[in-house]
Amino acid sequence: MDDFDRLVSALRSASSVSVLTGAGVSAESGIATFRGAGGLWEGHRIEDVATPEAFAKDPERVWRFYEMRRQNAREARPNPGHTALAELEKRFPRFLLATQNVDGLHRRAGSRNLVELHGSIERRYCVRCRRTEEDLDPLETLPPACAACGDRMRPDIVWFGEPLPVEAWADAQEAARSAEVYLVVGTSAEVYPAAGLALIAADAGAAVFEINPAETALSPLFSGAIREPSGVALPRILAALEA
Ligand code: APR
Repeated sequence: MDDFDRLVSALRSASSVSVLTGAGVSAESGIATFRGAGGLWEGHRIEDVATPEAFAKDPERVWRFYEMRRQNAREARPNPGHTALAELEKRFPRFLLATQNVDGLHRRAGSRNLVELHGSIERRYCVRCRRTEEDLDPLETLPPACAACGDRMRPDIVWFGEPLPVEAWADAQEAARSAEVYLVVGTSAEVYPAAGLALIAADAGAAVFEINPAETALSPLFSGAIREPSGVALPRILAALEA
C-alpha cells in the first residue's frame, strides 16, 4: 500500500482530524512562498520588514511590503487545495485547520473551523488605541492613520519575535494532541512554534502525513508523504474518500 492509500484508509476510520498549512497551499493561487527560489525572503530582509523593530524604525517601508502583499491577496483566488480542505472539514466530527498563512484564502474558500496562527493581512490595528480595521482596500497613505486617535496603524500580523495569538495557539495545540490523522500541507516546517504542532501530533500518536512536492525539515518523523502540489493532492484525497 503506498502512502496515498495509507492516508486515505487512515482518514476513512478517523473522527478527529487536524491540518497545519503554510505558504505552499497558496502557491497555486499565485502567492509567493517565503523560502526557496523566488520566495519573499529572497527579495526582502526579514529584519527590514517583519519585526517590531523594523516597524519602529521605518513604518512606511514595512507598510510598502504589506501593501504589496495585500494587493497579491486581493487579486488571488482560492485554489482546489483550499476548496478541498473546506470540504474535508465537513466529513469529520472534529476538525481544525491551523494556518500560518495571512492571505485569508482558507476563509474565502469556506473553511470555518480555522485558526490563523500568524494573523491576517486584511486586519490592522492602532498602536495606541487598538482600534481595528479589516479590509483589503488599497491604502491611500502609508502608514495608515487611526481614524479615532490619529496614531499609526500596524498590520495585524505576528512578526518575528512576537507571540502567537493565545486562543488560536491553544486551540491548535489541543487539536494536534487529539487528532487521529494530522496533515502538514505546504510548509517548510522551519518556523516555530507553528511547526511544533506536527511534533505534538506525532508524539500523541497521530498518523502524520506531509503534502509537499519537496522534503522538509520534519519529513523523517512523519508516517508518510504525498509529493505533489496540494492543489492536486487534496482534491485527489477527497475524491478517493467520496469514491
Ligand atoms: N503545494 C504544496 N506545497 C508547496 C507547493 C504546492 N503547490 N509549492 C511549494 N510548496 C512547499 C515548499 O516545498 C516549501 O516546503 O511549501 C513550502 C513553503 O515553505 P515556506 O516558504 O518556508 O513557507 P512557510 O512554511 O509557510 O513559512 C512559515 O515563515 O516567513 C514566515 O510567517 C511566515 O508563516 C510564514 C512562516
